[in-house]
Amino acid sequence: AHDSKANVVWNRTSVTPAMRAQIKGHAGKCIWFTGLSGAGKSSIANALEVELNRRGCHTMLLDGDNVRHGLCKDLGMSEEDRTENIRRVGEIAKLFSEAGIIVITAFISPFRADREAVRALFKEGDFIEVHVDTPMDICEQRDPKGLYQKAREGKIKDFTGINSPYEVPKAAELTLRTMDHEQHELVNQVIKRLAL
Ligand code: PPS
Repeated sequence: AHDSKANVVWNRTSVTPAMRAQIKGHAGKCIWFTGLSGAGKSSIANALEVELNRRGCHTMLLDGDNVRHGLCKDLGMSEEDRTENIRRVGEIAKLFSEAGIIVITAFISPFRADREAVRALFKEGDFIEVHVDTPMDICEQRDPKGLYQKAREGKIKDFTGINSPYEVPKAAELTLRTMDHEQHELVNQVIKRLAL
């Protein structure tokens, strides 16, 4: 088969990620939130970005619901499509981090292998996996978008936790127990882990 990548080389840039980071006063990295629908990923990610921004950090927030309207609008919720969604987001996160930006992502990212593939794009320590650990029954009670109810009624196939799996992280850098702490405490736990 024709290999479309056969003639594509990697270009070295004269300005390195380290030089970009120096100008910003902090290195680029990726803070990867994972968890069930309704676990609180987006709101914690948002609160974290507010705090980092307040501290003068250059950030970028990538969120499932938003990315799926643009970059990934061709993708659905099958296992295959979720894997491709996470692969694309991982590559984008890597590019932002090479620009010296602290990237925060909020995707269910239910498959361990997909999260590990993204981790492998980053240098050790530059990928911080944060499990937003909210029990499924609480997510379902909250049901902010009414999706759990629809899924229970059989109106959504492949719904995470109901008829599509969520693989709990085994070695996340951080686990946020959202039932035991206020949001500002959860944000502080992430900031502490970043050691900014
Ligand atoms: S994934 O698995 O990481 O590719 O998913 P993600 O890009 O984060 O998109 C999750 C949001 O899509 C909505 N939604 C669904 N979630 C789970 N399962 C199914 N079938 C589904 N259909 C739509 C839902 O609003 C998710 O947002 P959050 O913020 O996680 O609740």
